[in-house]
Amino acid sequence: MRVLVVGQGGREHAICWKLRQSPQVNEVYAAPGNGGIASIATCVPIEATDIIELADFAESLRMDLTVVGPEVPLTLGIVDEFQKRGLHIFGPTRLAAEIEASKVFSKEFMKKYAIPTADATICGSLDEAVAAVDARGIPCVIKADGLAGGKGVVLPSSRDEAIATLTEIFESRKFGTAGSRVLVEECLSGEEVSVMALTDGKKVVPFAPAKDYKKAFDGDEGPNTGGMGSHSPAVVLPAEAAAEIMKKIVIPTVQGMADEGRTYSGCLFVGLMLTADGPKVLEYNCRFGDPETQAQILRLEDDLAELLLRVARRNLGETKLTWKKEASACVVVTTKDYPVGGSKGHEIIVDPMDDDSVVVFHAGTAKKDGKLYTTGGRVVNVCARAATLSDALAKIYANIGRVRFQGARYRTDIGYRALGQRAANAAT
Ligand SMILES: Nc1ncnc2c1ncn2[C@@H]1O[C@H](COP(=O)(O)OP(=O)(O)O)[C@@H](O)[C@H]1O
Ligand SMILES: [Mg+2]
Repeated sequence: MRVLVVGQGGREHAICWKLRQSPQVNEVYAAPGNGGIASIATCVPIEATDIIELADFAESLRMDLTVVGPEVPLTLGIVDEFQKRGLHIFGPTRLAAEIEASKVFSKEFMKKYAIPTADATICGSLDEAVAAVDARGIPCVIKADGLAGGKGVVLPSSRDEAIATLTEIFESRKFGTAGSRVLVEECLSGEEVSVMALTDGKKVVPFAPAKDYKKAFDGDEGPNTGGMGSHSPAVVLPAEAAAEIMKKIVIPTVQGMADEGRTYSGCLFVGLMLTADGPKVLEYNCRFGDPETQAQILRLEDDLAELLLRVARRNLGETKLTWKKEASACVVVTTKDYPVGGSKGHEIIVDPMDDDSVVVFHAGTAKKDGKLYTTGGRVVNVCARAATLSDALAKIYANIGRVRFQGARYRTDIGYRALGQRAANAAT
């Protein structure tokens, strides 16, 4: 099988790494890929958003399967274009990807299908939004409607901050048309978890739950980021709660999308808050999580190529996934200034890890003349699997110093919200 992976992050490196282990796969291509992917796949210099070029490339090489990592090409209709040409591709169509691309759409959808989520007011102007903030009071949550690269959600700590945020969105057009509407949302509290499932539009196959750590600094301080680390199992999510989320949230979502004429196929990611009133949806994503996927893939026993092809063929049947009982974790090493700024061009040295079970996935790296350089943001992911989560994290932290570049930074407390929880949850 010849497979193309679209994207250039740690998630895509992990996907390529796992695809390479499939006995069915003999060629892996990545567009555009990164410095680490380049050592296990053929990287082609086509941006993930150049849909027509990607489709031309896949068609010319008679690609058996294309796997899309990031959300932007999905929301631009990459799946529709490939399907039109009769090419197998893993991911939702443009209409289905709206579930991530518009928080207004997903909020109205959840309301219509009685899927538990935070109460919210949809606002189309600054005045409406200020009135909604005043009606709700502080704390509340302000969310730009469209894609904002993880920067479109603010939890203001005062009315002044709320108004400043809304003014930036509506008057300064900080997010362009992605901020033409906002949600002013009830602020929930509880533990956050990520639940993912593969679906062909009918069948839903749950992925192992994971937990990610979004804040930039230790102790969950500082701004939100794309994700600083993750682990699987989530530990904070007992098996019964995971089953209830499948029944009350994930399956009704897939059914609802089919009823809307937006049949959803691919990976459905649900970000949840486990509140005192039960789990509530914070948001949907229309693709695998990053960095959750890196941890999950280390636990997956099954052949990823076979699984993704079944989804692409709308043919999941009775597929069931098998997960290693061991735990896995991922710690993200970033540039000094992440998530603001964009320092790049520093040479990266990766010394061999002292343990075979430690895997380094690359994100913001590029290879030039045999050397690796940072391209900014999240640079590499150091991941490991071990009998317990503490052991996996200990292996990662014992090796993380072997990845060296100027300004390298990482959180030292990934896993802290889960450690100390009962080991009985370990199989979830
Ligand atoms: N209603 C809410 N109550 C409390 N925190 C929230 C709420 N909605 C979002 N958040 C916080 O903001 C983060 C980002 O919000 P999310 O809806 O996932 O948007 P995105 O990932 O697109 O930035 C969440 O991970 C969560 O920590
Ligand atoms: Mg999110």
